[in-house]
Amino acid sequence: MVRETRLSPSQFIYPVFVTVGSDVRQPIPSMPGQSRLSVDQLAQEAAELRSLDIPAVLLFGLPEAKDAVGSGAWQADGIVQRAVAALKEAQPELVVITDVCLCEYTDHGHCGVLDDNGSVRNDASVELLARTAVSQAEAGADIIAPSDMMDGRIGAVRRALDQSGFVDRTLMAYSAKFASGFYGPFRDAADSAPQFGDRRGYQMDPPNGREAMRAIERDLAEGADMVMVKPALAYLDLIREARQRFDAPLAAYNVSGEYAMLKAAAANGWIDEERVVLETLTGIKRAGADVILTYHAKEAARWLARSNG
Ligand code: PBG
Repeated sequence: MVRETRLSPSQFIYPVFVTVGSDVRQPIPSMPGQSRLSVDQLAQEAAELRSLDIPAVLLFGLPEAKDAVGSGAWQADGIVQRAVAALKEAQPELVVITDVCLCEYTDHGHCGVLDDNGSVRNDASVELLARTAVSQAEAGADIIAPSDMMDGRIGAVRRALDQSGFVDRTLMAYSAKFASGFYGPFRDAADSAPQFGDRRGYQMDPPNGREAMRAIERDLAEGADMVMVKPALAYLDLIREARQRFDAPLAAYNVSGEYAMLKAAAANGWIDEERVVLETLTGIKRAGADVILTYHAKEAARWLARSNG
């Protein structure tokens, strides 16, 4: 009765990796319980999410081919664009969120295009990201979520969407996204590891909390409707601080490495998985997140339904 923080599946977002082919449900070794799905598997996935009262998915695509500029990201019949259309057809009420980034589409694995020295060209990348966002909106995406961390992308994406008539689409900015070791399993899953160097030139330095607040403030000024702190667990202080400073909806991304750690410990019998997962998600919520992006969403929804039902 006096419990202060309650978890609900209605505040979970479930990330899904979409791959080419048909009849594909390819397990991701470093993320036990998660699979790469082909587009024809998505209707079934969507129905399952709806039955669990999970309102939203976040899509990542593994394209057929990669190139230097990541052109697979904005093709009208690209992997994510086809996935959005399939999901909207199967479950119109499911909120479809698309991740905007080039790292899954570039052959070098960086989140933008490069100059001759291998450095990311910020403004040229922003143009391609805006084009990607518009193509995702055309496919039917409800929420556009830029995760690339280029400067000025939120304003550019907002303008591009508005100019194309998509004034009604929501922007969820990965605002405080840190250059983190916790993304390791994701990069296996999405085949998006940088082929040289790292992402420290565009993602944030883990020790910098004040800079994170500035990044959130800037994204809100550029037109973000929702903001995010990512990863979640090593950054709970920043989730709390963002909650206190800003009135916008706040998302926290419980990332792949955080998921993999609990799965590995549970598989070894070292922790009680249900207890620890729900405790973890509760902690993220208690810190101040409104919504949680988590690979645990489906299992957690089942556990919550059982304990409440
Ligand atoms: C794309 C992107 C990444 C994640 C979400 N979007 C990887 C990265 O920045 O390297 C990580 C998600 C996770 O680890 O679960 N840039």
